[in-house]
Amino acid sequence: MPSTTTAARRARTRRPAGMPSPWGMFLRGFIKHPVMVGSVMPSTQKLIDKMLSRVDWANTKLFVEYGPGVGTFCPTVLSHMAPDAHYIAIDTNPDFIRYLRHTITDKRFFAVHGSAADVRQIIADHGHEHADYMLSGLPFSTLPDGVGPTIASETFAALRPGGAFLVYQFSPKVKDFLIPHADRIDHAMEWWNVPPAQLYWAWKD
Ligand SMILES: C[S@@+](CC[C@H](N)C(=O)[O-])C[C@H]1O[C@@H](n2cnc3c(N)ncnc32)[C@H](O)[C@@H]1O
Repeated sequence: MPSTTTAARRARTRRPAGMPSPWGMFLRGFIKHPVMVGSVMPSTQKLIDKMLSRVDWANTKLFVEYGPGVGTFCPTVLSHMAPDAHYIAIDTNPDFIRYLRHTITDKRFFAVHGSAADVRQIIADHGHEHADYMLSGLPFSTLPDGVGPTIASETFAALRPGGAFLVYQFSPKVKDFLIPHADRIDHAMEWWNVPPAQLYWAWKD
């Protein structure tokens, strides 16, 4: 897989005059909703590239992301995706969704204001039965009671056989949410991130 170029990333995103930088926007989101955002800094490119390295892009018609924030993963995902594939990004924070709709102009991209717990309804509303890969940057350990297990079970119900749930998280406790549903789980660490993150690929066979 060729590496993503800066030009490819720039081609699909723009920041209209008056829009804050992604870092400024992310920090504002954290100050407003610290528990829901769960991190003071967006993910690094090293984490993004490692997390996405196991995606079979040729067989990806629908890519779903939970908690895109200011869209840290979006340009890289879009640069790999086929021209007819779709990318649905779901976030509970309306400010982040508004920001994504203004800064990402790619026609394959859909920013949805809602909860990952409703993923099956959301993808059905966009004309899809299953997702090929699903990515989560959610702060699983600080979500309200019951939300984490619901998101995990809804995710595996929405995932096609052969697909994977890609999860990056600072605490390894997130694995407890994946174990009841995944057929197998691969793990790696990414140290070049603040803070260093646990990466999981939870596969549905
Ligand atoms: C750690 S931040 C996102 C980081 C970003 N993806 C990155 O890589 O830089 C977590 C995000 O999850 C969102 N969030 C929290 N609970 C959610 C839920 N139930 N459904 C969807 N998004 C949620 C927050 O609004 C926030 O944007």
